[in-house]
Amino acid sequence: MLQIFDMSDPSRREAGIAAAAVALRRGDLVGLPTETVYGLAADARSDQAVTAIFAAKGRPRFNPLIVHIPSRAAAERLAAFPPDARKLADAFWPGPLTLVLPRKPAAGISDLATAGLDTIAIRVPAHPVARAVLVAADLPVAAPSANRSGHVSPTEAGHVVADLGDAVAVILDAGPTGIGLESTVVGFDRNRATLLRPGGLTRADIERVLRTPLAIPADDPDRPASPGMLAKHYAPAAAVRLDATDVRPNEALLAFGPSLPAGADRAIAIRNLSPSGDLAEAAANLFAALRDLDRVSGKIAVMPVPDEGLGEAINDRLRRAAEGR
Ligand code: TXA
Ligand code: MG
Repeated sequence: MLQIFDMSDPSRREAGIAAAAVALRRGDLVGLPTETVYGLAADARSDQAVTAIFAAKGRPRFNPLIVHIPSRAAAERLAAFPPDARKLADAFWPGPLTLVLPRKPAAGISDLATAGLDTIAIRVPAHPVARAVLVAADLPVAAPSANRSGHVSPTEAGHVVADLGDAVAVILDAGPTGIGLESTVVGFDRNRATLLRPGGLTRADIERVLRTPLAIPADDPDRPASPGMLAKHYAPAAAVRLDATDVRPNEALLAFGPSLPAGADRAIAIRNLSPSGDLAEAAANLFAALRDLDRVSGKIAVMPVPDEGLGEAINDRLRRAAEGR
């Protein structure tokens, strides 16, 4: 039986955190809010619990999971930190940054969670509910985004219910997530920080701390630097047309900024990511808007979004959405 707790109700909050901790310790799945997107959480030490994540999402077994822990100290027990990883953890944890690091073998994490790799992806989330659950459960939590594999990530508890429903024991509903894009994933190629996935922490913020540009992952199609970054991903069912400067018959419009393109009056539906052209607001609205438009139309025209700041990650997700068909 799926239990949903409204975390905005102070009288339900403690009960929700306790129920989530009990479910995790039992090996069950929990829909957990983070500051980026909702995660599908399970005990990262348990082969059985991690297998349940892959099964619920329909996720390929070769695509490893991020392990969530409450502190840098807990992270040091799981992985080795190159000097630049230490700098980034100091600057941005807790927060929307995932570090892919050399894994310590004795860490007790299920090999299924790391897909047999000798690296491990680690994140210290900032969301107070996620942090409270990590502390109460007192175990490392594997948590991919709580969507069906290949679909857009969930930014509301209702998205988790729609995608995963009864596979989950407990969902903590803390309202829409603040950032709305997944964490930025940074790996280390011979100790050089490498951008594996643009996300909720901008390249500029990271490079300001590193004082050097992020490297681009070596392009080896047989051994992708980040297995999850297959082109066809984060996809709605609808056909997505990027950089639209007009709206064509039967299209819905995903807009950005104050002025709408020609033909907008005949759009089947319009969602504006940010009427004022604010990229943080657009990031927060992106996945819910894609889900909404996907429900009402088989075709979505997307206005151009500037490629600076959070726009890099927004455009990455939009390109993947357009590859979906
Ligand atoms: O914001 C987020 O990161 C959310 C919340 C729930 O924390 N989680 C999330 O997880 O987006 P997921 O599984 O949807 O994406 C994790 C990404 C995938 O692209 C995966 O391939 C990559 O991280 N990854 C995980 N472990 C890795 C590793 N050892 N080496 C390279 N990439 C890895
Ligand atoms: Mg995901």
